[in-house]
Amino acid sequence: MNESEITGIVAELPKAELHLHLEGSIAPETAVQLARRHGVEITPAEVARRYRSPDFPGFLDAYKWVTSFLREPQDYALIADELFARLAAQNVVYAEITLSTSVMLRRNQDVGASFAALAQAAGRANAAGLRIQWIFDTARQFGPEAALETARWAARLAPQGVVAFGVGGDELALSAANLRPAYELARAAGLRAVAHAGEIGPPQAIREAVDTLGAERIGHGIAAALDPALMDRLAADGVTLEICPTSNLRTGALARQFGPEAARLDRHPLKSFFDRGLRVALSTDDPAMFETDLLAEYGVAARLGLTAPEIAHLAEMSFHAALLPEPDRQSYLARFRKQAREFGLL
Ligand code: ADE
Ligand code: ZN
Repeated sequence: MNESEITGIVAELPKAELHLHLEGSIAPETAVQLARRHGVEITPAEVARRYRSPDFPGFLDAYKWVTSFLREPQDYALIADELFARLAAQNVVYAEITLSTSVMLRRNQDVGASFAALAQAAGRANAAGLRIQWIFDTARQFGPEAALETARWAARLAPQGVVAFGVGGDELALSAANLRPAYELARAAGLRAVAHAGEIGPPQAIREAVDTLGAERIGHGIAAALDPALMDRLAADGVTLEICPTSNLRTGALARQFGPEAARLDRHPLKSFFDRGLRVALSTDDPAMFETDLLAEYGVAARLGLTAPEIAHLAEMSFHAALLPEPDRQSYLARFRKQAREFGLL
């Protein structure tokens, strides 16, 4: 089967996406609309230019810039409704959405009011067959106090669909030990733990995320490819890597980890992780910023040489790694397997 046949089938399969930032999903036209609401005139071309950052610091700058136009609950509702419509159009039936809660707090926004608007948008998506759960994220560079405050908000809003606490931002800004109290607070409230690590940082950052923070899923974790013992340990412990190939190209993470000649999608370590038996959840990270979507990422997997049955296995793994109650996971898996069998993939 060729790439377009494979993506044609993947388009029909019910899918899960687990590593997806709400604020990274703002289409250029929507950024223009949001900016105008707040008295700022920008153009779609300017947004697209800023989204094409040359390196990781440039990416973080673009993220900071576009989030500066998110000020009111209705701004968050707009981008959520648009994201959920795009996910539903790709047959995504379950998504965990990361919210940059520490950015909202840093701007003195009312997290409770904006999250109420987001929970309503999630309710609308649910009625259309797309289930949403939330991950509250703190930016590492904002420090331990911001992490604690973000974890407190996550705990408070757990009854409204927040299932995990995570850390993103500048991976090199702060070591994991500083974040431990925030993760402990979140865990005590029944939340699960995820963390960006080994995206631009070294393999040791992945070890610390697992050992110090108790992360059960790692955002990116591509540095593991540099450390065979770590890959084997992650495989043995069932730690999932949330792999976002286009993101790794566009943020410069591939070049940083593996050298300038590796800044190509066909050099991404996704297939080597898969072949080694690691759990992988294929995702988009910031789809509008990187001009991608989940189907395009499955196309990358096909170009890397995964066969159609392997792609089906890859897609199934996202349901295995989802932070869902077990009966719900099993019903998604049953639905997925039934469809995959009908396509002759299982
Ligand atoms: N926030 C949004 N996308 C991110 C990424 N790829 N790495 C770190 N923080 C992020
Ligand atoms: Zn991310």
